[in-house]
Amino acid sequence: MKKVLVIHGPNLNMLGVREQSVYGTKTLDDINEMIVSHGAGIGFDVETVQSNSEGALIDAIHTARGSYAGAVINPGAYTHTSYALRDAISAAGIPFVEVHLSNIYSREDFRKTTVTAPVCAGQICGFGPHSYILGLEALRHLIGG
Ligand code: DQA
Repeated sequence: MKKVLVIHGPNLNMLGVREQSVYGTKTLDDINEMIVSHGAGIGFDVETVQSNSEGALIDAIHTARGSYAGAVINPGAYTHTSYALRDAISAAGIPFVEVHLSNIYSREDFRKTTVTAPVCAGQICGFGPHSYILGLEALRHLIGG
């Protein structure tokens, strides 16, 4: 089994409660269950982490270096602003796939810019919780199951 880290950024702990019309009704626990179970089916031992703090997310990315074969990240609103997160991903030395529940290109203008996607292998957005599953599949494509 390959070790894979799935990182959830700020406000994603509020899934199921926050803006249901945009993000749906599944909670983060529901989504993590889906992720872990899909991962197991494709040979991934998936661990998940969520933080609202930029520093803790950066620490999680540093930890991923050397310990995980790859990572899926939903940086939340830090996607649009955080050069620090971008630099951490860039230094991680393992492939990252950026995912978003919503289609960030069909929303407010500020969401159309992602400073983190250019240092990821690629990006998936707009498929609700299934974006994470597609993110895992993209990792499988990159690193094998
Ligand atoms: C999000 C999109 C971001 O613009 C937003 O700030 C989020 C969630 C998504 O998964 O669709 O918190 O990353």
